[in-house]
Amino acid sequence: MIYKKTFGMPEKFVPTAYAPAPKAKVLEMPASLAEKFTFSVGRRGVKLTFPLGPDTAIYGFGLQLKELNHRGNKISLRCNADPNSRTGDSHAPVPFFVTNEGWGMYVDTARSAVFYCGSELNRGLHASDFEAYAESEFVDNTRDLYADKTHENTALTVEVPLAEGVDVYYFTGERIVDLVAQYNLFSGGGCLPPDWGLGNFYRCCGRFNEDEVLEMAESIRAQRIPCDVLGLEPGWQTRVYSCSYVWSEKFRNHKALLGRLKEMGFKVNLWEHFFVHPTAPVFDALLPYSADYYVWHGLVPDLSLPEAQEIYAAHQHTLVEEGVYGFKVDECDGSDFTGGWSYPDCAVFPSGMDGEQFHHLAGALGAQTLMKAMGDRPTYSEIRAMGALAASYPFVLYSDLYDFNDYLTGVVNAGFSGLLWSPEVRQCASRSDLVRRIQLVAFSAQSLINAWNYDHQPWLDFDAADEVREMFETRMRLVPYLRRAFKRYRDTGVPPVRSLVCDYPEAQHIEDEYIFGDMIVAPIAPERHGREVWLPAGEWVGYFDGKTYAGGLHAVETEKIPVYYRRGEKPEEGRITQFTE
Ligand code: GAL
Repeated sequence: MIYKKTFGMPEKFVPTAYAPAPKAKVLEMPASLAEKFTFSVGRRGVKLTFPLGPDTAIYGFGLQLKELNHRGNKISLRCNADPNSRTGDSHAPVPFFVTNEGWGMYVDTARSAVFYCGSELNRGLHASDFEAYAESEFVDNTRDLYADKTHENTALTVEVPLAEGVDVYYFTGERIVDLVAQYNLFSGGGCLPPDWGLGNFYRCCGRFNEDEVLEMAESIRAQRIPCDVLGLEPGWQTRVYSCSYVWSEKFRNHKALLGRLKEMGFKVNLWEHFFVHPTAPVFDALLPYSADYYVWHGLVPDLSLPEAQEIYAAHQHTLVEEGVYGFKVDECDGSDFTGGWSYPDCAVFPSGMDGEQFHHLAGALGAQTLMKAMGDRPTYSEIRAMGALAASYPFVLYSDLYDFNDYLTGVVNAGFSGLLWSPEVRQCASRSDLVRRIQLVAFSAQSLINAWNYDHQPWLDFDAADEVREMFETRMRLVPYLRRAFKRYRDTGVPPVRSLVCDYPEAQHIEDEYIFGDMIVAPIAPERHGREVWLPAGEWVGYFDGKTYAGGLHAVETEKIPVYYRRGEKPEEGRITQFTE
């Protein structure tokens, strides 16, 4: 069930104002539930509190790369291109969380809201009331005190800066997956990518010209590495920071290139971002619909305005008509913290929105705009920022960070919040680094090698074409299985890739395994040859070794990636060549 309550006077520019129509029913919050909240508005904006139990675990808040259970943490939901700490910064911050106690909460805001996931409220007691604490305790290690995050009488506190009110949605459901599924339906249902999008992606070096791109394509085919999508990085345009969206001299014969790549069975995807260079054909048309700041001397179009979306999309559509199948929308996360190249939070957009709000809505608005540009051609694209209520957009998140564990945590976490994430493979430190990363990415929402800064295929450094081919063939074989998982995402909201705790409450402490479709994946880190694997109760079969495993802990040694399906649920498998249409 989903219950809504309006506290105070909510703002105009909130995610629900721009989201697709919900596919889930929302009921008015019963008074018995509403009275558990406290609400006030002060100089710091909205302050909301809600009681937490001593053992309430808290998951979600978007693409968090550091931790699963946020209980006890202060999560500041700032959109940030380089989220390298556990403060809540994220490419895709989402003010939605679920708990292990059958409830979750979505706070409808495009502000950098702060969630204190467990603070002790002053109940106004007198010293004499504290009998329970009368005996002095000796704590010889203050760390133990800090670690005790589960006091009685703790509350969740939410601060929504500048706002005078907020809509709160309270979700109830038996398991975490039921809560998440409802949130995804509330967001309009999950996306369903075309089959080719479920295959493998390779992004070419940004310095390449059209001949080098073609050579790369031919070499991928010659090595029989299954690949459906070829990405062109910045160099396809005349200007890139900001963007002209015009083919550069290096791609003089781009139409011939697109034609040839199509014949070879590749779909082409173009890198861009929406900071608009003065030489872009749409510059003047977008001028009245842009913010009062430039980024890289380019306009920041207010994509919340239908006019701006139309103008931007119409130009991108000319690229689609030439044979483009998708986009990689870069830099839309902005970064106040690494170089400060983005627009300030106080930027003013013609719609009346401010920069802080636009940071939070830019991913979803950008995705909507590019969906318009695609017309009726289905896409499975990339984007570096996203926000709330985004499940229906066929866009996958990626990052410039590269720590293996962070990438794995992203895979485990993204599904709590209606997001898709690719732990993309770039250049690698060793053969093992490459192989382990390829294994992880092949069992993720988007199987992607991003060689934007590498003029050769990363596997050539280690003579590892066979390993890459084998994993990419595995991915291809699993496309029918993945398609079914995505159909379920669209129809029921169950994420295709999700944390174990979603389906198995007893897996609360398993942070480095995840569910892919319904299989369990336990990736092994680079330079390691094995790990401990936890499996839920029942009988499981190793996808690669065919052996039977009971529920519980197993010490596994293998050069493959440990993947298991429940006996009787062997994945349906398909062909392994690339898709031609
Ligand atoms: C970065 C992006 C990389 C690559 C690069 C090209 O911002 O994250 O994947 O596209 O730009 O300049």
